[in-house]
Amino acid sequence: MKLETLSLENYRNFSHLKLDFTASLNILIGNNAQGKSNLLESIYLLAYSKSPRTSNLNNVVKHGFQITRIEGEVCNNEIKKELVLLIDSGNKHLFVDKKIVELKQYLSNLHVIFYVPFSTLIYGFPRERRRYLDRAIVSLDKKYLHAIASYNRILKMRNALFKSKYNEREMESWNEQFINYAVIIWKARQEYIENLCKKVGQLKPIFFKENDEIEIGLKTTPQLSLEKKRWAEEVKYCMEMQKEREKQMGFTIIGPHRDDMVILLNNYDARYFGSSGQLKAMVILMILAQLNMFHEEYEEYPLLMCDDIDTELDAMKLNAFLSSLSSMVQVFLTTTQNNLAETLKDAVVYQVHEGVVEKIRKG
Ligand SMILES: Nc1ncnc2c1ncn2[C@@H]1O[C@H](COP(=O)(O)OP(=O)(O)OP(=O)(O)O)[C@@H](O)[C@H]1O
Ligand SMILES: [Mg+2]
Repeated sequence: MKLETLSLENYRNFSHLKLDFTASLNILIGNNAQGKSNLLESIYLLAYSKSPRTSNLNNVVKHGFQITRIEGEVCNNEIKKELVLLIDSGNKHLFVDKKIVELKQYLSNLHVIFYVPFSTLIYGFPRERRRYLDRAIVSLDKKYLHAIASYNRILKMRNALFKSKYNEREMESWNEQFINYAVIIWKARQEYIENLCKKVGQLKPIFFKENDEIEIGLKTTPQLSLEKKRWAEEVKYCMEMQKEREKQMGFTIIGPHRDDMVILLNNYDARYFGSSGQLKAMVILMILAQLNMFHEEYEEYPLLMCDDIDTELDAMKLNAFLSSLSSMVQVFLTTTQNNLAETLKDAVVYQVHEGVVEKIRKG
């Protein structure tokens, strides 16, 4: 999967921009507040018609304007397509090869993985790890998005019922669906994590010693047994036991919205015992594993975007990371450091300055 060109019109701090990218490594260099992260965000928007930074699409429209246009030419298994996302007064319109399409048809044309900094992935709130997990699962299984949306809708209904006139019958009718979607989500998350753990284990020698052990697990509330087919029953029982407590607290205390991902290094929680170098190495392995899982599913690699990479990885780790990537992965790095481009000699380099981008090295 490659993004060959990108055009922006009245998007964030860009007025008009047209760029072409290399199929391998693209580096965007610029001082703070010049538009580097905006540019990566625009690629994410082009892929998913959603921003990773804001749920209000009006925020991505250049101040003082009403319409934003993001256009890109993508190449997927040697088939080229032109994608357009048009945002007009908060409404989005999607086009593939100049024909207006529904979201469903639009979504499979471009995939992007964001490098999540270790400060977020390891030290961040559980909500951030759940988001990381869910994005990774959705990129492999679109149906999962429906399960998440349905679960969240029912969770909201349940919580509203606790706060208004509590009605036992109505609650029971929600509970059945709640358990159904909770189990779908848990199974998907558990399966993803098992696969992730296996892949991370295979990649481990890049950064760790042979006898170092990395384990990634899903922490659920309630704690579930190893027998997946008993989960619905187990949750039902727990909900019954916690009914009075939930009523007292006024919100749902059981379910995948409480999940967390736990990372153990040599049997100890990496958050409290891992060195920052080890944690960064762990994140790199997780990204590499994610790319491999995507490739197994689609025989293609998604785009990889790493924002502010110089604040996350030193030159040695970055080099180890980049040289472990398949040459088929198209990468976009942003940095404020000019010297990064000097160490990465094959990269195409772009200078981002006040919403204007200039290719300063052809690679
Ligand atoms: N809708 C918008 N219209 C106009 N300008 C915007 C809009 N949204 C954000 N900006 C501006 O875009 C500029 C660039 O932001 P961006 O986050 O891309 O910077 P950056 O180059 O990644 O900087 P840093 O190195 O600090 O991360 C900022 O000055 C920001 O205020
Ligand atoms: Mg930035």
